[in-house]
Amino acid sequence: MRLVYTDDGSISAYNDAYNDYYHDKKGALIESIYKHIIPAFSIINKPYIRILDICFGLGYNSLLSLAFAKKNGIRLDIYSVEIDLPLLRALYDFPYPKIISNYLEIDRIFDCINNDKIFVDSNISLNVFRGDAINFINTMDSSFFDIVYQDAFSPSKNQLLWNENHFLSLYRILQNRSIITTYSSAKKVRDIARFCGFSVFDMKFNKFKNGTLFTKGIDNINNLDSVQFSYVKL
Ligand SMILES: C[S@@+](CC[C@H](N)C(=O)[O-])C[C@H]1O[C@@H](n2cnc3c(N)ncnc32)[C@H](O)[C@@H]1O
Repeated sequence: MRLVYTDDGSISAYNDAYNDYYHDKKGALIESIYKHIIPAFSIINKPYIRILDICFGLGYNSLLSLAFAKKNGIRLDIYSVEIDLPLLRALYDFPYPKIISNYLEIDRIFDCINNDKIFVDSNISLNVFRGDAINFINTMDSSFFDIVYQDAFSPSKNQLLWNENHFLSLYRILQNRSIITTYSSAKKVRDIARFCGFSVFDMKFNKFKNGTLFTKGIDNINNLDSVQFSYVKL
């Protein structure tokens, strides 16, 4: 793993084994907030939320979600999964943006993750399974999650986490009125998800590359004009 600066000043990384970046070079922080956190929490607006974060990576999606829920008094349980154990051990020293490190006890979180314990802090919790995502998802109850962050490496590099079996599994573990957020706008991925039962929305924020929302039991999504978000059902 090599650290890289992204355009918004936040730090991400490059993975030599996958030959892929962990985030859009325009900004790790911006990508996490605008592709995942804002759509997720604005559409699933409930006092108690369960998220599956596929996969933990550098932890931006999970940690920002915990910080957001803590600040806003939302009860949140996050389940995540990561196969790269050396990465999880290295993250104690990762230079997270202050929006994360000011709100959360980073050392305690990584102590829990690296010792197979659930991190709990008043209304929020994080449970990171260290292993393969497909095995982990197969152990989850049906109709359990409100939100999935689908954030594996790109479909060409991480094929098993974008195929039909994977989306059928996600459909099973998501409850009615739930969403999947992803940075991918690949037609093939959208077609697979639609075939598996999801509604598909193109997601556009400002001048950034389009992402996609997949929904189960949600047919309309209001645009968030104040933050220049638009969703178009495909
Ligand atoms: C794009 S990164 C995730 C970025 C992360 N969501 C974040 O916010 O920083 C993809 C991650 O998926 C992990 N990964 C790839 N295949 C996996 C699998 N089969 N099971 C679990 N983790 C996997 C990689 O090790 C990598 O850390």
